Amino acid sequence: DRPGWTVHTDVLVVGSGIAGLATALRLRELAPGLRLLLVTKDVLDNGSTRWAQGGIAAALHPLDTPLAHLADTLAAGSHFNDPDAVRALVTEGPAAVRWLIERGTGFDRDRAGGIALTREGGHRADRIAHAGGDATGAEIERALIDAVRADPGIEVIKHALALDALLAADGSAAGMTLHVMGEGRPDGVGAVRARAVVLATGGMGQIYAATTNPDVSTGDGLALALRAGAAVRDLEFVQFHPTVLWLGPDARGQQPLVSEAVRGEGAFLVDARGRRFMAGAHELADLAPRDAVAKAISRAMRDTGTDHVYLDARHFGAAKWEARFPTILATCRAHGIDPVTQLIPVTPAAHYASGGVHTDLRGRTTVPGLYAVGEVACTGVHGANRLASNSLLEGVVFAHRIAADLAAGLPDAAEPAPDPRTPVLADPGTVPELRAAMSARAGVVRRGPDLQAALDTLDDLAARPAPAPGLDAWQATNLLQVARMVALAALARPAGAGTHWREDGPTGPVEAARAEFRLSPDGPRP
Ligand code: SIN
Repeated sequence: DRPGWTVHTDVLVVGSGIAGLATALRLRELAPGLRLLLVTKDVLDNGSTRWAQGGIAAALHPLDTPLAHLADTLAAGSHFNDPDAVRALVTEGPAAVRWLIERGTGFDRDRAGGIALTREGGHRADRIAHAGGDATGAEIERALIDAVRADPGIEVIKHALALDALLAADGSAAGMTLHVMGEGRPDGVGAVRARAVVLATGGMGQIYAATTNPDVSTGDGLALALRAGAAVRDLEFVQFHPTVLWLGPDARGQQPLVSEAVRGEGAFLVDARGRRFMAGAHELADLAPRDAVAKAISRAMRDTGTDHVYLDARHFGAAKWEARFPTILATCRAHGIDPVTQLIPVTPAAHYASGGVHTDLRGRTTVPGLYAVGEVACTGVHGANRLASNSLLEGVVFAHRIAADLAAGLPDAAEPAPDPRTPVLADPGTVPELRAAMSARAGVVRRGPDLQAALDTLDDLAARPAPAPGLDAWQATNLLQVARMVALAALARPAGAGTHWREDGPTGPVEAARAEFRLSPDGPRP
């Protein structure tokens, strides 16, 4: 499609979760003279951020330190993390939380009026700040959206799917094409010319049949960055949240999360025979890092021939359930389970992309002028398995770093190539098959032949006749390209590590090598 209209701005931010909103707001603080346009695929609050329950991690407790937070982050990530990136995350973390408070976020308070802190898997200290009990992301999203709405210097276009980067002759980013439906600009394809583009498009959980991610998490930013020639990293490290409410064997799409903070407050896992299987599985037992818990659950399910295990938090009693986890309580009850008197059936589901578009510590991708922040990015902080509640934190810390970099100097406006390239679009009818193949063959447990079979299926789906252009076709294309890269990255790492569990891989110590890939017709190219 040729763009029917063009607008000009200094900085284009794509995405309206914590990372995009924090980038825009911080940039306004540091460089109020810049023109700023924020586009979002749906309405402002319809990304993953508002679903985040447990909280945001930072060394805020007097007995905690950034160094201890660093150690836990590296251990959870199997030391595949970039230590410099982790150091930036943990040392700048407390200030990032304070900034959220300054911008209107109301965190829960302890009896002394300090920020109430809890624990989650992999943390050896109480360092998770939360809001509304178990509605942390919703509160942060509310506060930041209020701040964006109150700022006339941030223009917003809603219902705008970012299609492809506009690239100048030297390969640098010069803007973006958008498909707009219904708000802010004429319907159809338009172009935004910008001196810098910040991708804050979130994750890709929708490449799997069951995920905690909302419908919008279709890997759009990752796919368009790949098409722009950006390097990506660690895509094989897809995190499966261990405790998603089990809604039956045929549950598809976004599934309700049962926060790890429930285990942080004392709940424990049991298998179908009532055995507490985490006790011998890890030194932190039920509060082990997420990859260890998801693996132990998979083994317990296999041992008992079931597709779920149970979380026992009956001992909380009604008052604690109502005060501390009102969202989860209401969701469970809406599905006919009362956690006050019953075990909660849970199972793992796709949750978080620890990898993504490779950036440096200023959020710069390998494409000049193109930045990435939040789940779409791979700064290196998560390694092979993200530590609980580090994702909201990363969104703010690296948004601030990007804002500082942009405020220090923007590239000159570049002239984009006259005709944006359009990829061969995928048939939206193939998406259920794509998701089924990824869940069955590239999920929690992986084997080489299964990954190859997943790739064969994806190639078959890609060979189906191209549909008419449109939003669904673009999303299907993004899902297919991202799924293919995940499967290829998983196949390229025969030895398992972190969330990448290769059942057929070599055993013994695994080298923490981190490979960078770019899109090529034959698959990932180092
Ligand atoms: C949770 O509340 O268990 C999810 C938190 C996270 O993904 O970090």
